[in-house]
Amino acid sequence: MPPEEKSFHMTSEEFRRHGRAVVDWIADYYDRVESLPVLSPAKPGQIRAALPAAPPATGEPFDAILRDVERVILPGITHWQSPNFFAYFPANASPPAILGELLSAGLGVQGMLWATSPACTELETHVLDWLVGMLGLPEKFLSTGAGGGVIQDTASSATLCALLAARERATGFAVNRRGGDAHLTAYTSSQAHSSVEKAVKIAGLGRENLRLIEVDDKFALRPEALARAMDDDRRAGRVPCFVCATVGTTSSNALDPVAEIGAICKERGVWLHVDAAMSGTAALCPEFRFIHRGLELADSYCFNPHKWMFTNFDCDCFYVADRRALIEALSVLPEYLRNPATESGAVFDYRDWQIPLGRRFRALKLWFVIRHYGVEGLQHHVRRHVELAQQFAGWVRADERFELAAPAPLNLVCFRHRGGDAANQTLLDGLNQSGALYLTHTRLNDKLTLRLSVGQTRTEARHVARAWHLIQAEASRL
Ligand SMILES: Cc1ncc(COP(=O)(O)O)c(C=O)c1O
Repeated sequence: MPPEEKSFHMTSEEFRRHGRAVVDWIADYYDRVESLPVLSPAKPGQIRAALPAAPPATGEPFDAILRDVERVILPGITHWQSPNFFAYFPANASPPAILGELLSAGLGVQGMLWATSPACTELETHVLDWLVGMLGLPEKFLSTGAGGGVIQDTASSATLCALLAARERATGFAVNRRGGDAHLTAYTSSQAHSSVEKAVKIAGLGRENLRLIEVDDKFALRPEALARAMDDDRRAGRVPCFVCATVGTTSSNALDPVAEIGAICKERGVWLHVDAAMSGTAALCPEFRFIHRGLELADSYCFNPHKWMFTNFDCDCFYVADRRALIEALSVLPEYLRNPATESGAVFDYRDWQIPLGRRFRALKLWFVIRHYGVEGLQHHVRRHVELAQQFAGWVRADERFELAAPAPLNLVCFRHRGGDAANQTLLDGLNQSGALYLTHTRLNDKLTLRLSVGQTRTEARHVARAWHLIQAEASRL
């Protein structure tokens, strides 16, 4: 018998015990999260000051590590999973997603190629095809035709990949070959997410070649202004190559008119990407599918189950109508990745659909969520969130001290106190410092505006009612 090798690894027995303790800790956390101050009160440097200057020279007991999560880490957590979290857009978690994530970590798969774990690729393709039906998306996004879906880490990456494919399609793949001197231009509304500008910078178009198109009184892109800007550019010798429309802007949940924008893009042969990062999830319910009117004219589309569909960060579903354009734009095949499956042409290698080479098994958590809730369960909670937001909008309308600052088509309500910016800032600061809820702001028509975003997994009627009660009480103190 060879002597046993020295090992510092956790034994299976220890792993079982500590694993159960961690799952128990998370379950207890969800039971008490409602009572914790939503916005972390930590001061800059506070968390680091509580950590030892040097790493441990010898391993420590697991219980001690978990105790420090409670003692050191928790005070520095802003509780995105609190039902009183109404800030930004949600970044939801749910028990089935967490368990799927745990299993993904346990399998430790790196799914860059079909061959490096066929199930990682095929489950992803399959679940993304399911979602085409679940959201009523155009069939051209199905993998069974010329298109297909892939999970990206974020909507920002999806937009960047779409832009790179658009850039290459517009130039006959010339920028990939010899760099960029093509005078390409891109278009999005003045309300679009900052990730569009970031993508334009990374893709080498230059920020000055991104046109921020004006919006109407509902903060939605004006199609005629888009057409004008594209035609002006073309006359000046530039090459319009990419438009990003938004279904549910970050500031105010504005819905760009995708059908009109799509017609303009088709006429001019320009790539249309539709960013529905948060609001796309609403299309689970047939009554909200109006948000995707005209989507059949888009070349690509994305939405984030990691926002409103109860799936842990990170999980963005990105669809293209013509996967060849994307793959040709991003594929590089070194010798060490060659394999018979790739060569056969019968499989997807998702490394060619994204920026990094390596990829996690993200489809597991999405599959767990869809199977746990079923379409019915997902629809129920999404519908309920919209209902609660609409109820809140009604309360704002009925209180003469307040006004709605934008239409509230779904689950985001933009509102303000009529007392002006200073009053709204005082209101916001008072509410957030109380720890009882967390709201964030934007500026609409150059006025400070408060946003109440209803979409956290555990948010129920009583949380929204309490939020309104607290807002009213704070307003009375102004
Ligand atoms: C409309 C929209 N697009 C893109 C993003 C960026 O999302 P991600 O963090 O997935 O890149 C957001 C984030 O809130 C968003 O609201």
